[in-house]
Amino acid sequence: MLAGKRILLIIGGGIAAYKALDLIRRLKERGAAVTPVLTRAAEEFVTPLSVGALAGGKVHRALFDLTDEAEMGHIQLSRVADLIVVAPATADLMAKMAGGHADDLASTLILATDTRVLIAPAMNVRMWQHPATQRNLAMLRGDGVLTVGPNDGDMACGEFGPGRMAEPLEIVAAIETALGGGPLAGRHVLVTSGPTHEPIDPVRYIANRSSGAQGAALGAALVALGARVTFVTGPATVPPPPGAHVVQVETAAEMLAAVEAALPADAAVFAAAVADWRVANASGAKLKKDGSGRAPALEFAENPDILATVSQMGPGRPRLVVGFAAETDDVLAHASAKRARKGCDWIVANDVRPATGIMGGTENEVTLVTADGAEAWPRLRKDEVARRLAARIAGALQ
Ligand code: CTP
Repeated sequence: MLAGKRILLIIGGGIAAYKALDLIRRLKERGAAVTPVLTRAAEEFVTPLSVGALAGGKVHRALFDLTDEAEMGHIQLSRVADLIVVAPATADLMAKMAGGHADDLASTLILATDTRVLIAPAMNVRMWQHPATQRNLAMLRGDGVLTVGPNDGDMACGEFGPGRMAEPLEIVAAIETALGGGPLAGRHVLVTSGPTHEPIDPVRYIANRSSGAQGAALGAALVALGARVTFVTGPATVPPPPGAHVVQVETAAEMLAAVEAALPADAAVFAAAVADWRVANASGAKLKKDGSGRAPALEFAENPDILATVSQMGPGRPRLVVGFAAETDDVLAHASAKRARKGCDWIVANDVRPATGIMGGTENEVTLVTADGAEAWPRLRKDEVARRLAARIAGALQ
């Protein structure tokens, strides 16, 4: 699916530049035409000769290359591509992009283009985590720049953490997605996430400990496979996934309304920890102590079950409906019963006893319950659980 696609590959100056050589090879194998551009710093890490040999063509190097200007101006060079890929995108290159600088060929091409840009950041952990880099990243994403990675791992500088450039095959997958590929291209997937807040009065509410991490990771994994994702989220503590259409809600009733408004969808995944009850006698004014020592009597009403409503909706029901089951005992039995009771296709069950550290934590250990039975997955990071689940969803929608 990359056959005939034209990739302008800007190689920044970092140790990860060596991986750009493999990236060129992988892209060429898939039939893409790669036009490489090396920054001056990149030439310290890879040679124009090896880059040119692998790409099978001219390597563009400095801004004021007069032959280049005569043959093809830099503006034109930036526009004939189907996608501009910056790999590795160094902290400096990201800062230049965010600031709109144009003081060398790479930054000028990026500023002059009307083609989409995908960056694969690579840098030292501290540089990645620095507020300046994170600020630049947020600006670039806001400008529609796509990102892949960085990954966690041992770094060439001896530290450990996020900053390693995504592997060439991950970058290839991101390129395919950016160019309209990906197994979920053209599919609409709805995801609910986070807790809900049920007001007691204008300043108090009932909530739960859900961080929204698993839902956000799932949203990101679905976007990465090319899906159009509507992400309906309660007040979560982790940010929503970039690239999704985000709908912020507070209560279960608002969440149901947002879900109904977002349909139709090919698949719907209900990862939200929805409050089962709301306060029926919520007060319009702040409750005050009346001096009697008596606490106000709260009355509860059951909230709509969003998962059950969508699972049982008849015409217009998404082809695949997935629920989560947060349980503290007899996980499998409860999850299977929940699947039957609610009428969803799959249940992703997890054990949320505090000792597991799952609720609010970074890892998850789930059992996938489908019509074919139960499948216990190993304990994995939430983003890995999300990747696997997204892949399964893509398989089911084939
Ligand atoms: N769910 C929902 N709307 C609700 C309650 C739950 O959509 N009002 C969804 C959750 O997003 C999750 C699944 O239903 O996908 C299971 O939620 P859970 O709270 O674990 O189950 P309950 O329905 O509350 O059942 P129980 O109280 O027996 O655990």
